[in-house]
Amino acid sequence: MKVLSFGSLNIDYVYNVPHFIVRGETLAAKSLDTYSGGKGLNQSVALARAGLKVFHAGAVGEGAKFLLDELESAGVNTDFVAKLDNIRTGHTIIQRSDDGDNCIILYGGANQSITREQINKTLENFSSGDALVIQNEINEIEYLSKCAKEKNMIVAFNPSPMDSSIIPVFNNADYILLNEIEAGQFLNQDITSKTPEYIAGELCKKLPDSKIVLTLGVNGSIYKDKNITCRQDAIRVKAVDTTAAGDTFTGFFLSGIFEGRSPEWAMKFAANASAIAVTRPGAAPSIPSRNEVLEKL
Ligand code: RIB
Repeated sequence: MKVLSFGSLNIDYVYNVPHFIVRGETLAAKSLDTYSGGKGLNQSVALARAGLKVFHAGAVGEGAKFLLDELESAGVNTDFVAKLDNIRTGHTIIQRSDDGDNCIILYGGANQSITREQINKTLENFSSGDALVIQNEINEIEYLSKCAKEKNMIVAFNPSPMDSSIIPVFNNADYILLNEIEAGQFLNQDITSKTPEYIAGELCKKLPDSKIVLTLGVNGSIYKDKNITCRQDAIRVKAVDTTAAGDTFTGFFLSGIFEGRSPEWAMKFAANASAIAVTRPGAAPSIPSRNEVLEKL
C-alpha cells in the first residue's frame, strides 16, 4: 500500500513566552526557535517514521528547502510537492508557554495554491487500496477527497483547523480523527457536559460508514465504528511542547491500521508516540521513530 499525504508544509516560528498575549498587550518573547511543521508535513513524517511508504504532495514558496529536507530525511518522497515562485511558504507564529502549551496563528501562503490540475496529476500515481491522508490547511480538499474516493482509495481525514466549509469532506472519509471541539462544531451541538462515549456515538450516527477516533487531550482517546468501541488512556509525561502531538497520534494510529493491526493496538501505539513527542521541542523534529515507540510499548 502507498500512502499519499496531501497537506500543508509550514515554517513554525515558535516564540517562548511567559504567558499567552492578551488584547492590547505588548509582550517580550524569551526566545525564538524555528522548526519545520504544518499538519500535513508532521503527519507525513509520523507516518514514515512509523514505518510506511509515504508520498507528500503540497506546495511551497520561498525558503522551504529545510522543509523538504525534513521530509526526505524521514524517508518521505517529495516529488509531488509543487515549488512555486513569488509566493511565501506557509508559516505559523506560535506562542509556547513554559508548560508546553501553545497558541497558533496560521498563514496559508503556498498551501492555499493547490490546483485541480496538481490534484489530478498526483492522483494518477495512486490506485484502489492506496490511502490518502488530509487535514484542513490546504485548499481544494473537498475535490481531492472526492477524486480519491472515486478511485476507491482509503481516505483518512483530520478536520483541523475546523470550519463549516469542510463539512462535505466528512462524507468522503473512511477514518476521521478529531478532537472534542471539532466534534462539537461538526455535530452543531454543545457537547461540553457530554461523555466521550456519547460524542463518539453521535458522530457514528451521522457517519455510519466511518471509523471515528476522538482525541481527548489528557483524557486519552476513544475509537468507535459500527462494531467496536475502545478507550485508550493518555500516557502521563512532563510535556515541554505539545505542538504536533495530535499529528504524531494521527500518523502512528493510521500506520498501525494500515499495517493490519487492531484499533486497540493502533491507539496504544499512537498514544505512546505522542507521549514521546511532547517531551521534545518543535513540531516535526519531535516525532519519534518506530523503534523508540515499540521500546516504550
Ligand atoms: O499541528 C501542529 C501544526 O499546526 C504546527 O506544526 C503548525 O504548523 C500548525 O499547522
